Amino acid sequence: MRGVILAGGAGTRLFPLSQVASKQLQPVYDKPMIYYPLETLMSSGIKDICLISSPHDLPIFQRVLGNGHQWGIELSYEVQPEPGGIAQAVIIGESFVRQEPFALVLGDNIFYGPTGLKPLISTFGGGAVIWGYPVKDPQRYGVIEIDSSGSVMSIEEKPDDPKSDLVVPGLYVYDGTAVSRAKGLTPSNRGELEITDLNLSFLNDGQLSAVELGQDVTWMDSGTHESLLESSAFVAAIEKEHGHKVACLEEVAYKMGFISQTELAQTIEKMPKSPYRTYCERSILG
Ligand code: DAU
Repeated sequence: MRGVILAGGAGTRLFPLSQVASKQLQPVYDKPMIYYPLETLMSSGIKDICLISSPHDLPIFQRVLGNGHQWGIELSYEVQPEPGGIAQAVIIGESFVRQEPFALVLGDNIFYGPTGLKPLISTFGGGAVIWGYPVKDPQRYGVIEIDSSGSVMSIEEKPDDPKSDLVVPGLYVYDGTAVSRAKGLTPSNRGELEITDLNLSFLNDGQLSAVELGQDVTWMDSGTHESLLESSAFVAAIEKEHGHKVACLEEVAYKMGFISQTELAQTIEKMPKSPYRTYCERSILG
């Protein structure tokens, strides 16, 4: 399965930080935010990844991440000329996804723990799969209502009066029909092609299922100053407590078998002397 990361958008909520770098390049403790969604895809075995961003920010992503070969993956890039909505990414990625199933992850979403994406990839039989995660402030997100058998009954984008506390994190798996479905959507009141409308298209055809994230998973949307700070604090606490780094892409690549020990050593050799390099040398190379 291929993967798409959406890392554009106006980033207005993070002004004036967004003048320095786009939201997904802001630091989440000791790494750029984009490392975390990359880790989500890579640790599920996805090696072919397309990153979509604005004309202004795309060259910076290209400079920071390159072609992905240092992690044994193939990174390609597409431009989203204007922030026309998350579902627009599906249309922009049309030639990349080639009408095949793909996973879409939002560039400001951080998952820590087993999402279930990896086992899903081997059993995915079509339609769309979304995840559900309980939160205290559901009105900030897409909200799902599920019945006692776990079937999705409704999805609403940022409702004033949420029907449940289960929200949809920015991780989605779609079959090849997603592109034509996205092309058939009409822009919402805020002028965007909404991902919730794409999910509703699958739901209306009985083609949508939801996986509830277990208590062993932490999910964070780092799109506000407060959540950015919380994400950094969370990652710092985990790294201090467990002594391992979260979303160290060299470590993920090596553990997933994407790169050999020799290739890992070559990648580390190119890093400047830093705590990150020391971690890679001691904890992965050993
Ligand atoms: O984080 C999960 C939530 O993400 C979902 O629960 C909602 O259903 C979904 O609509 C979305 O809500 P947000 O308000 O958080 O979306 P936001 O506008 O912050 O965009 C999410 C990411 O996608 C962010 O990294 C920016 C990027 N993006 C967004 C738009 C609208 C783009 O790259 N291009 C765009 O046109």
